[in-house]
Amino acid sequence: MQVVRTRAQLRAVLASAPRPIGLVPTMGWLHEGHVSLVERARADSATVVMSIFVNPRQFGEASDFAQYPRNEARDLERARAAGVDVVFAPPVDEVYPPGFDTAVAVGAIARPLEGAARPGHFDGVATVVAILFALVGAERAYFGLKDYQQIAVIRRMALDLALPTEVVACPTVREADGLAMSSRNARLSPDGRRRAAVLHRALEAGIACVRADRCGGDAVRAAVRAALASEPDAVVEYVSVADPDTLAELARIEGRALLSLAVRIEGVRLIDNELVVAALPREREAASPSGPRPEGRSN
Ligand code: PAJ
Repeated sequence: MQVVRTRAQLRAVLASAPRPIGLVPTMGWLHEGHVSLVERARADSATVVMSIFVNPRQFGEASDFAQYPRNEARDLERARAAGVDVVFAPPVDEVYPPGFDTAVAVGAIARPLEGAARPGHFDGVATVVAILFALVGAERAYFGLKDYQQIAVIRRMALDLALPTEVVACPTVREADGLAMSSRNARLSPDGRRRAAVLHRALEAGIACVRADRCGGDAVRAAVRAALASEPDAVVEYVSVADPDTLAELARIEGRALLSLAVRIEGVRLIDNELVVAALPREREAASPSGPRPEGRSN
């Protein structure tokens, strides 16, 4: 595994690298979620490139950037064990050269949910990913569905700016209790870590609501919030039931929906989501011997 730090070194190494190239962008503090992206990239690619770069442009609060966990020696070991061929771990001014004065701003898809909660966040993500796509020139890049909106933003950008790298979405890797793996989990106390399992329990409560045919958006949001309330120390930032393509909030689930939430536990901001599919009205009718259910049934 080669570790390169500059744009020039990266270009030099990749000039003769076997193709196709698979890119896994990360901010380090690698866990099984990141490893799953490398495994997927490994299966598709002759060369796997991982970037490790804590991107200052995507953090609103300077304190959040400063507190982001870092351990390069351990990350390099994990990357090597996972089968990465080239790690790009640059200093800030290799990504953003002196005088850097350009930004990518994705529109509507970047506005709700994480975009509303973290102004400027997705401009920072889109900008760094555009630079990484340009530097690496990969055939494919791998991202986790844990950050669902991030994938939607990057797909929009790649399409609009004609970036030739294909965006591949990979499933969320979870701990045994359902908590989505995240670098931020390291900031929780053992007690907070235990409480954090409420995020996924709450999503499951929302899914159960849909499966029980309670498909009103507000009924599902209420079920998720009720489950979150079982941990009084969980501070809810948002609970959303949205169209997976537009991220517009849904009054009623007919077909696919994205359930997502952002919650602070011990001040640590955690996010999670699940896609859910409701039976279409016609399927529901066919499944029910007594014909269609009355409309307006709220639970
Ligand atoms: P980071 O949080 O390090 O995540 C890197 C990649 O790992 C992202 O695509 C993320 O969705 C994925 N990932 C994180 N946790 C995961 C999990 N539990 N299961 C599956 N995949 C998971 O996301 C970023 O960095 C940055 O915004 C980045 C795209 C690198 C741009 O700076």
